[in-house]
Amino acid sequence: MAQGITHILEEWRSLEEEYQQLQDTHRTYLQKLDEVSTLQKKCSFSISHQRKRLHEMTHLVKKCSKETSEADARTMDELKEKIKMLPSAFSDMEAFLPKKNGLYLNLVLGNVNVTLLSKQSKFAYKDEYEKFKLYLTVLLLLFSFICYFFVSYRFLDAILNFLLVWYYCTLTIRESILITNGSRIKGWWVVHHYISAFLSGVMLTWPDGKLYKTFRNQFLAYCLYQSFVQCLQCYYQSGCLYRLRALGERHNMDLTVEGFQSWMWKGLTFLLPFLFFGHFWQLFNSLSLFRMAQLPDCKEGQVLLCGLCFLILFMGNFVTTVAVLRQKVKSRNQKPKSV
Ligand code: COA
Repeated sequence: MAQGITHILEEWRSLEEEYQQLQDTHRTYLQKLDEVSTLQKKCSFSISHQRKRLHEMTHLVKKCSKETSEADARTMDELKEKIKMLPSAFSDMEAFLPKKNGLYLNLVLGNVNVTLLSKQSKFAYKDEYEKFKLYLTVLLLLFSFICYFFVSYRFLDAILNFLLVWYYCTLTIRESILITNGSRIKGWWVVHHYISAFLSGVMLTWPDGKLYKTFRNQFLAYCLYQSFVQCLQCYYQSGCLYRLRALGERHNMDLTVEGFQSWMWKGLTFLLPFLFFGHFWQLFNSLSLFRMAQLPDCKEGQVLLCGLCFLILFMGNFVTTVAVLRQKVKSRNQKPKSV
């Protein structure tokens, strides 16, 4: 037999051996997957069972505490404290178990499991979300810059608005997945992205005319500013994410670790003036549009619709940002300053 063929046959034999090993590993993997799935079902069942029992227990304790002597009252208080701790322990467990999707995710993705099963993959997904936001924001910034300074062409404006619609819709999907995986994003920020998608959609359909041209530059300047603020926001939020990860734990330590606290407050103090300026720009946009809607030659319904969207965005953003700040100040004052 020729030397070349002998060599090929040897290679094939070694490849076959490797393939056998791969088959064994894959079989073990499938077995483990089955085991994992059984354990997941068992845990989910036990959690709902425990919740039911806890509910009954709370009722019993309430009933009993009315008739207890002073000596028993202490035992009851201890019991109440223990009962209070359990729901959050259940939620922590559930963060690593498959969940049913909410209505929105069900409509968009169907009934697919979006729960990430390890802390690393949850972090990686959040990190990717922040990066996605940053890259798209830079692209939008460049686009609005070109539209504002160089090219005044309705078709290019339409592409910018189309990009905005797509961007905000994608954000709402990603944020719903993040929430399923335990993120504490406030409902308003998600609603904010739904409204922004709607607003960009309305801008997309606004026909080219005198009123469109009057508002165009103000809108583009606003887009430029918003993209700039979003870059700062992404920097702040990625910073929080990396620092909390470096601390090894998230959510329950973030309020007590002093180093993190001081970084967060520095970041917030820098970011907040820009954010509030952006909120008042939204109010300014809405007032300009309402004034425009009163003009006798205003026929386009888009003027009033966009004005309303900007007003809702202003109110929601302002109120939520103030509420977030109040909550942070309150937690800072409540918690001890060092660990
Ligand atoms: N969009 C998406 N996610 C947000 C968010 C936003 N605007 N604000 C906060 N989050 C997320 C955080 O990343 C965090 O997620 P995690 O639980 O997965 O870690 C969670 O919500 C809780 O964050 P919280 O501690 O409440 O706030 P923060 O310190 O991360 O950010 C602000 C506080 C005020 C800086 C932030 O809410 C913000 O930028 N708001 C203003 C947005 C705005 O007005 N945009 C328009 C500008 S013109």
